[in-house]
Amino acid sequence: ETETKCETLLVAQEGGVAVITLNRPDAMNALNAKLLSELNTVLDKCDADPEIGCVVLTGGEKAFAAGADIKEMKDKSFADAFNTDFIAPYDAIASHKKPLIAAVSGFALGGGMELAMICDMIIAADSAQFGQPEIQLGIMPGAGGTQRLTRAVGKAKAMDLCLTGRRIDAEEAERSGLVARVVPQTALMEETMKIASKIASFSQPAVAMIKKSINTSMATPLPEGIRQERHLFYSTFATEDQKEGMAAFTEKRKPDFKDR
Ligand code: HXC
Repeated sequence: ETETKCETLLVAQEGGVAVITLNRPDAMNALNAKLLSELNTVLDKCDADPEIGCVVLTGGEKAFAAGADIKEMKDKSFADAFNTDFIAPYDAIASHKKPLIAAVSGFALGGGMELAMICDMIIAADSAQFGQPEIQLGIMPGAGGTQRLTRAVGKAKAMDLCLTGRRIDAEEAERSGLVARVVPQTALMEETMKIASKIASFSQPAVAMIKKSINTSMATPLPEGIRQERHLFYSTFATEDQKEGMAAFTEKRKPDFKDR
């Protein structure tokens, strides 16, 4: 059990998996500065903890998160926004090393959808609803919504969602390439934990390199991405886990990955 005391999050550990639950139920888990700061602190601890191989981020049944906290934002001036760069904590979340899976039930809207897209994979309950409703508030997505969404689903759906603010259900989200899997609402945590435990059982360096390499594909032209992938691939041969994984295969036994 981690000892982190949080106002806005619940943190638990099951085997090699840390589970972080957004916990502002009275505000549909609206993301305020306190929550983002606590989330980054917990993710820092997960990155530093060799026992943790995967992190799951979830919310409540009704809402993963209904966006950035509108009440906290509404009186900000341009100078406040620019000088404090209040979106910066979202970049910090994205910069973490351990794989982060979003388990989404209910509303993932605005900054809540952006937070889910920052995660490395989204598992959606069949009740999930995704949307970028910022346009309805006279603003625009600001934590990657116009960028990560476009890369995930292409220009047509990104324009549709961001310009109209309409919500899509889990099925449309999966069809569009936004989410990895859709599962029944009641099985959301069980299914997500199976995936997370599986990832946590693998070589941590290999997992971290795959995360890094796929994220690189979002930010580089293909030849540069291929070049970086090859360096990372060759470097897996410097790990004990590569020797163990390949030895286990040839000896017809289960591998025991230990690199941290
Ligand atoms: C602050 C919020 C909130 C939010 C909900 N609440 N969303 N508070 N910020 N984003 C609060 C409500 O004010 C209300 O508090 C309580 O949560 C319950 O919400 P209700 O509206 O009563 O619930 P319901 O009728 O079921 O509707 C759920 C909902 C709706 C469809 C999710 O709450 C909604 O539309 N929320 C806003 C969604 C949105 O516009 N998100 C984008 C935000 S802008 P009280 O005290 O009244 O009971 C954004 C910008 C991102 O995210 C930029 C970069 C980060």
